[in-house]
Amino acid sequence: ASMEALSLSPPMSPPVILTQDELKKIAAYKAVEFVESGMVLGLGTGSTAKHAVDRIGELLRQGKLSNIVGIPTSKKTQEQAVSLGIPLSDLDNYPTIDLAIDGADEVDPHLNLVKGRGGSLLREKMVEGACKKFVCIVDESKLVKHLGGSGLALPVEIVPFCWKFTANKLQKLFQGSDCVAKLRNDGEGKPFVTDNGNYIVDLYLKKEMGDLQVASDAILRIAGVVEHGMFLDMATTVIVAGELGITIKDK
Ligand code: 5RP
Repeated sequence: ASMEALSLSPPMSPPVILTQDELKKIAAYKAVEFVESGMVLGLGTGSTAKHAVDRIGELLRQGKLSNIVGIPTSKKTQEQAVSLGIPLSDLDNYPTIDLAIDGADEVDPHLNLVKGRGGSLLREKMVEGACKKFVCIVDESKLVKHLGGSGLALPVEIVPFCWKFTANKLQKLFQGSDCVAKLRNDGEGKPFVTDNGNYIVDLYLKKEMGDLQVASDAILRIAGVVEHGMFLDMATTVIVAGELGITIKDK
């Protein structure tokens, strides 16, 4: 892995305190520097990816980019891209994508990710799995030593049919990590429904889950599970924006 550190402010200048959203924007704008005219682009979902999509729209409007095709990873991103005039298509028409830019909830030292706290993990995994290059953009708060270790959840998309049965199977699978499986709600007392009409179970783990590939395979073997939010060995580059500057980590 190679690393490049870019300082945001000249040495000796007073420290600039940036908000988390400003850091997200800095990472997003840096990632858009990888975009070239004529590319097929995977457009991510979430508050970080939103900045990248805005920036792509702006460069198109200014004529600094042309001939772009966007493949959105959610209905929300699709709406945003349409409002910006970004031409869109899908994986059926473009099974190979040049570059995807998307955020993450956790990034480990091997550039494995947890995604899906925004609920779009299935389409994100389909699109990002079809990319030649996947640039993940985060602020430094997303860096973890071990996935699932930040006290936040590992999201799993499941079919609504007998969701308790599937949630119980997931909880049992990770009982060694003191797992609690919770159905995600929409904030109004109803289950959160994904763009694909499915539910999300959030797995709260108190201990590390061990080998990630083994855990991934075991989750996917449960009938009723559609996909999970671990993105193993998928990001080719991670751009991290922090108070001290931008770090670019490559596979
Ligand atoms: C959505 C995602 C997002 O990329 C992830 O939740 C990060 O979101 P944000 O950029 O808002 O912090 O995986 O499914």
